[in-house]
Amino acid sequence: MRAVVQDRYGPPEVLRVEDVATPVPTEDQVLLRVRATSINLSDWECLRGSPLYARLGGLRAPACRTLGSDVAGTVEAVGSGVSRFRVGDEVYGDNLDLKGGFAEYAVAPESALAPKPEELTFAEASTIPQAGAIARRGTARVGPGQRLLINGAGGGSGMFAIQLAKSAGAHVTGVDNAGKLDFMRSQGADGVIDYRTEDFTRTGASYDHILDLVAHRSVVACRRALAPGGRYGCVGGPIRTMLAMATFGPVLGRLTRRRMGVLVVPQGPTHFSPLADLCVAGEIAIHIDRTFGLDEVPDALRYVGEGRAQGKVVVTPDGPP
Ligand SMILES: NC(=O)c1ccc[n+]([C@@H]2O[C@H](COP(=O)([O-])OP(=O)(O)OC[C@H]3O[C@@H](n4cnc5c(N)ncnc54)[C@H](OP(=O)(O)O)[C@@H]3O)[C@@H](O)[C@H]2O)c1
Repeated sequence: MRAVVQDRYGPPEVLRVEDVATPVPTEDQVLLRVRATSINLSDWECLRGSPLYARLGGLRAPACRTLGSDVAGTVEAVGSGVSRFRVGDEVYGDNLDLKGGFAEYAVAPESALAPKPEELTFAEASTIPQAGAIARRGTARVGPGQRLLINGAGGGSGMFAIQLAKSAGAHVTGVDNAGKLDFMRSQGADGVIDYRTEDFTRTGASYDHILDLVAHRSVVACRRALAPGGRYGCVGGPIRTMLAMATFGPVLGRLTRRRMGVLVVPQGPTHFSPLADLCVAGEIAIHIDRTFGLDEVPDALRYVGEGRAQGKVVVTPDGPP
């Protein structure tokens, strides 16, 4: 089968398409014919091995030769212990541990997958698992009339988070680069900030919730933007900022009657399927910015990594749908 492989961390140029052996599912795994894999910022981070947490599986060289975790496809074979799926089923899920979605076939644990709703295309379903789980976790405590700021709101998780928070009745401010301000408004953001010209921690405004998808500001700066009783949670960013948020954040939060820290995003279908239900019901919209073929994965990753993508970008091994 054809797969996009990398043997070292680096820019998209380290990637190449190779003919490799089709993986064989173990007892609890499913073999998928991949129909679509969406790109997450975590793919860009694992490609380059930066921030450092992206090297958890392999410090010097990538443990997974093929990236791509948010997969959607058709079941081709199942391990002897698999009971929920059969050959021919259409499934999707977050294969963060094994990855391998930028290929014609991939194996995934049964537990990572859910049946694909027939109302959604493979491309649409592939946008949901990781970004959806992050957005649900990040907006779970947001209520009517509360002010939420989402830093990095123009990407995949942000797209879902803005819409979830708006449907909860919150006032949402989205922060991203100038090219994504209109996109964030189109998703429902009430206010927008271009982070390259304005620092959200220095506008004088304060928020009941801050969801930081790309934490770059210091703990003290983020505390400044948090209203009394407010909550700040980050899910990604440079390791130095994340470590400070994990250690100093909770202490400063407690001392000043706020809550600050790193949000741990749980994986698995129970955490993303509810968002798919909302998409099927037409309550949440999926925006796919661009679709790329397997040979174009380096361009697709660069498009996301360099911050040009609005919403989600999808790779389809069979070419555009
Ligand atoms: N905690 C967990 O379990 C977990 C699991 C998976 C992923 N993650 C993390 O979740 C985060 C969100 O991923 P995603 O797939 O939604 O990313 P995405 O689609 O790439 O969106 C991130 C957005 O942030 C913007 N951005 C970059 N630097 C910024 C800054 N300094 N200030 C404001 N905005 C900035 C990006 O645009 P520009 O680049 O143009 O600026 C982009 O629009 C990532 O940090 C990832 O590491 C966490």
